[in-house]
Amino acid sequence: MLEAIEAATPQASQRRIALSGSGPDRVALRGDHERLGQALDNLVSNAVKYTPEGGSVTIDVTTGPAHCRIEVTDTGIGIPLDEQDHVFDRFFRSSSATDRQISGVGLGLVIAKAVVEGHGGTIGFTSEPAAGSTFWFELPLSPDRQLPEVAP
Ligand SMILES: Nc1ncnc2c1ncn2[C@@H]1O[C@H](COP(=O)(O)OP(=O)(O)OP(=O)(O)O)[C@@H](O)[C@H]1O
Ligand SMILES: [Mg+2]
Repeated sequence: MLEAIEAATPQASQRRIALSGSGPDRVALRGDHERLGQALDNLVSNAVKYTPEGGSVTIDVTTGPAHCRIEVTDTGIGIPLDEQDHVFDRFFRSSSATDRQISGVGLGLVIAKAVVEGHGGTIGFTSEPAAGSTFWFELPLSPDRQLPEVAP
């Protein structure tokens, strides 16, 4: 989480967006550190990109007995309700993004979903137009503490 905040800091401060986080800095996950970090970075960079100046982005990490949940919440433009079914489609761009001429390809979430599901996890979101979005994913915790620790 610290790494994700550090990575997003220049972009966020340039746009006067407050970045913060809560929860453990490290959790025991099974898998590919780099790819999981990339999935989180995609969610955090979206949160910053789709939030107007002066807004905020928070990253909250919580752990249960068998899972860890990471939520990225923003106070951004949101996604229209009638487009939400398509958010994880390849090349999807919401009208809220294109109307504001915010550039993007529409692949970041496709990649994040593939990485999370490839690690046995689930990904989802809730979004309210003109209010904000929360993109989250859950991953199984490693049952074997011998496995390498991965920083989300
Ligand atoms: N946090 C968010 N708030 C509002 N809209 C979002 C958010 N995250 C994603 N979206 C919408 O979902 C679309 C797809 O996101 P995705 O990250 O896949 O692509 P992108 O950001 O357009 O481009 P890139 O491939 O460079 O990441 C975005 O274009 C945007 O319309
Ligand atoms: Mg993106």
